[in-house]
Amino acid sequence: MKNMIEEFTEHTYGTWNRQKAWKTPILIKDAEGVYIYDDKGKPYLDFSSQLMCSNLGHKNKAIIEAIIKQAEKLPYVAPAFANESAMAAVEALRSVMPEGLDKFFFSTSGTEANEAALKMVRQSKAPAYKIISRYHSYHGATSAGAAFTGDPRRWFSEQARCTIEGVRFAPDNYCYRCPFALKYPECNVQCARYLDYMIKEEGNVAAMIVEPVVGTNGRIVPPPEYFPILRRICDENEVLLIADEVMSGWFRTGTAFAMEHWDVIPDILTTAKGSTGAYTPVGITASTQSVSDFFEEALFCHGHTYAYHPLAASPIPAAVSEYKKLMDSGLPQKTSKHLQEKLYELAENHECIGDVRGIGHFWALEIVKNRKTKEPFDVKADKLSGKALMTGKIAADSMNNGLYMAAWYDTLVIAPPLIITEEQIDEAIDILDQSLVIGDKEVVSTDMPASRSSEYIK
Ligand SMILES: Cc1ncc(COP(=O)(O)O)c(C=O)c1O
Repeated sequence: MKNMIEEFTEHTYGTWNRQKAWKTPILIKDAEGVYIYDDKGKPYLDFSSQLMCSNLGHKNKAIIEAIIKQAEKLPYVAPAFANESAMAAVEALRSVMPEGLDKFFFSTSGTEANEAALKMVRQSKAPAYKIISRYHSYHGATSAGAAFTGDPRRWFSEQARCTIEGVRFAPDNYCYRCPFALKYPECNVQCARYLDYMIKEEGNVAAMIVEPVVGTNGRIVPPPEYFPILRRICDENEVLLIADEVMSGWFRTGTAFAMEHWDVIPDILTTAKGSTGAYTPVGITASTQSVSDFFEEALFCHGHTYAYHPLAASPIPAAVSEYKKLMDSGLPQKTSKHLQEKLYELAENHECIGDVRGIGHFWALEIVKNRKTKEPFDVKADKLSGKALMTGKIAADSMNNGLYMAAWYDTLVIAPPLIITEEQIDEAIDILDQSLVIGDKEVVSTDMPASRSSEYIK
């Protein structure tokens, strides 16, 4: 006889998976602080904030109370009406958004936030319609989101004819494996400068979409000059700049939004995940006047039944206030330094770590077979092939030992909730230290130290 989990998986589609592999997921029954608990009460330290979204940890009282209050008052009303929950959310957002990004559209996911951005761009910039994205990127699961996406999930969507037309891909600012085979700073930030050539040669470019610090596809931190150069190139060519801060937003990198590190204001900023700490599903598309003015006369041809959903929006003011309190306490600033030191230490002891890079609470360990040649264990095409990946083996061993950590085909995702303490970081690092031996056993030994590709300024 099937148990309840087997009944569940038989009657649901597992995400991004062959369905024959969607059989016996771990049942999570509880979560508190930085831990989640399975049905036997076993704790797992959450070292990736689930999908890099539970930035405030689990069971935050202020957020839960805000949701309960709204559920009792007005869970839903159609978006043609104003509602007090969305009004309070907009006010809270205006206190953290970079200057000028002050007109919003609310949906229910990061993907939808980018869909709304696409309509804003293509309507307001017509007849220009092309969008430039980058290979190391993820921007969503729908036809537009997948078309913007550089990672292998796009390949499958393309085969199914489920992507929109008109997207082009630019080289990444991936210093560990520079697509121009150059080295910073002698490279003169060619990855940014190339964009001017690309935009002019393409023609009809309406916008460029970027993850300011690349999320799933590598926690890639750009050189300091990258975004100022990109902003200038976009302005000179009348191309809009969309910053997808679905993952990099909400203090994940140490500032409310990652673009603040470079003092660059995008024309559109999309976000989701951390906006509610993932307690309710919300997507936000924020725009400057350069975009919003167009729609004073033109029809904003977009909307959802759940746009400005009162219950979904209700935790935003509480989340903003919790983030501010947390940052004022100084804890995330202290623990992010501790995390960085601990990851650098790990790399000294494990030869399978090729590169350690990141910022704030947003780090990657890139796992390689050979530090000298940078030969990887697995490549992009392996991700959805069903092959057992080295990063997956390391993450599975950690999970057995009580540490939850997301993994991509080449990197481990170190992105704990911002409330994590130094002691909890040490607990996680001890478990990871054991699991990394699995990779070490299969490396080619070299005398090279691990690279620290996000350390631009020594
Ligand atoms: C940068 C980025 N954009 C968009 C999305 C899509 O968000 P959602 O899964 O909420 O649709 C994600 C999801 O991980 C993301 O990381």
